[in-house]
Amino acid sequence: MSTHQEFTGLRALVTGGASGIGLATARLLAARGAAVAVLDRDLTGLPDELAGHTADVTDDASVVRAVEAVGVALGGLDILVNNAGIGAAGTVADNDDAEWHRVLDVNVLGLVRVTRACLPYLRASAHAAIVNTCSIAATAGLPQRALYSASKGAVQALTLAMAADHVREGIRVNCVNPGTADTPWVGRLLSAAADPDGERAALNARQPLGRLVSAEEVAYAICTLASPLASATTGAALAVDGGMQGL
Ligand code: NAI
Repeated sequence: MSTHQEFTGLRALVTGGASGIGLATARLLAARGAAVAVLDRDLTGLPDELAGHTADVTDDASVVRAVEAVGVALGGLDILVNNAGIGAAGTVADNDDAEWHRVLDVNVLGLVRVTRACLPYLRASAHAAIVNTCSIAATAGLPQRALYSASKGAVQALTLAMAADHVREGIRVNCVNPGTADTPWVGRLLSAAADPDGERAALNARQPLGRLVSAEEVAYAICTLASPLASATTGAALAVDGGMQGL
């Protein structure tokens, strides 16, 4: 099997696939032979060559509808990339209950809702794989990221729990843990900063590699874990952080 077309004949769904890491992942999966569908609440940035399905991961009915439509359009599903996510800044003193519920609803329950809807399809696949987009925030102890870190800690724990629950069904579950990645999300954060250039330099310096990681570098890691060539890898967290956690 070639590593360049190893997804030929496989069907993939990428949540949050209309921007940043998700879009880069959808493109790479398609370039390597997969039939790809994107689930996003906002399909504005999605190129014409990718099939989009509008759904909000906080709305179970819209998720079920979109996943059923994807199952019909693709004739099944082999790969799920749970990537939709939102950020939050602050210490535990800074976010009220409503903000905690809002972020956990997207980053944690959103992943659960989409996975629940996809499981019947994945159980029927001979090459089933789930990859969750987690974050270095799950393990690094970053300041001003209490809520976001808690949400991604839950994603990492869920990755392990799901890997254990579904290994005997032939479904592998892994996650990627990006450091700061140069996506529209980080672009929005930088443009809102008092000193965008200074802030970007600080983010670059925080990663031993001396720069942000790219959406394509994270997509490559997601595809590595999703690949049928990774058939013995489950319950793993793959860092894509320029050495931030390990060095
Ligand atoms: P982005 O903002 O460029 O893309 C996120 C996509 O998710 C957007 O298309 C958005 O419409 C979609 N989305 C958000 N909430 C949704 C909802 N409720 N329902 C459906 N779709 C929804 O962000 P980026 O940077 O590509 O982030 C993707 C993932 O990577 C997130 O899970 C994020 O936590 C994670 N991540 C990002 C890092 C970074 O530095 N950019 C670092 C570590 C992890």
